[in-house]
Amino acid sequence: MMERVVKPEILDSLEASDPAAIRSRRDLRLINWFMRGEKWILEQLEGLGDVQKVIEIGAGDGHLASQIKEQFPDIEVIAIDLLERPAGVHSNVKWKSENVFATESFDNEAVVVANLFIHHLDNEELWLLSKKISNCRAIIMAEPHRYWFSKLLGYPLFPFVNHVTRHDMMASIEAGFRFGELAGLLDIDWHWDERAGLGGIRSIAKKIK
Ligand SMILES: C[S@@+](CC[C@H](N)C(=O)[O-])C[C@H]1O[C@@H](n2cnc3c(N)ncnc32)[C@H](O)[C@@H]1O
Repeated sequence: MMERVVKPEILDSLEASDPAAIRSRRDLRLINWFMRGEKWILEQLEGLGDVQKVIEIGAGDGHLASQIKEQFPDIEVIAIDLLERPAGVHSNVKWKSENVFATESFDNEAVVVANLFIHHLDNEELWLLSKKISNCRAIIMAEPHRYWFSKLLGYPLFPFVNHVTRHDMMASIEAGFRFGELAGLLDIDWHWDERAGLGGIRSIAKKIK
């Protein structure tokens, strides 16, 4: 598992209304609870202080964006995903059904957050993303750790998730990142802080003032 391999995930090919997709998005709740990445992102936002705008990219079911709005009601929260606005997203979250590479939302006030999204992008797309967000204040990411131990942590979840999630979990780990790798792939000369744990790599890059 040394080389990074980005291959299609089944969930991305299913209609949002497909029962297998609905079940797999529910499975993602379990995985997110297990990995604690969303909780860590919320803590980092708290630590940044005086945040005015948060943009979640690849927001999925909108759970994290809704939590951000609930915890920080004064922050403008924008959620971007290819999906239509899912039911149950906090009413004050601005939902944008668009491709992150097409959005005009990024600006120098924004803090960009991503949970289990960045690994979908190949190295060229990561470079393009870094150009798009280069004016932003910070990016906070919780992504799979490309490491054999992450797979070992994933296998015990197999009885509790469907075939889509079983496939996508392993594909995500193989498309995930090694320690220190994201800083090289995202061409951003910011201050980086990174840690690994619970099958994830948690990274925060802040613009140097
Ligand atoms: C693995 S899901 C993660 C969803 C959510 N962040 C979570 O943790 O549950 C990745 C999401 O990225 C979205 N996505 C993939 N490529 C995208 C793109 N180019 N622009 C916007 N969203 C994208 C998919 O629709 C999907 O909802």
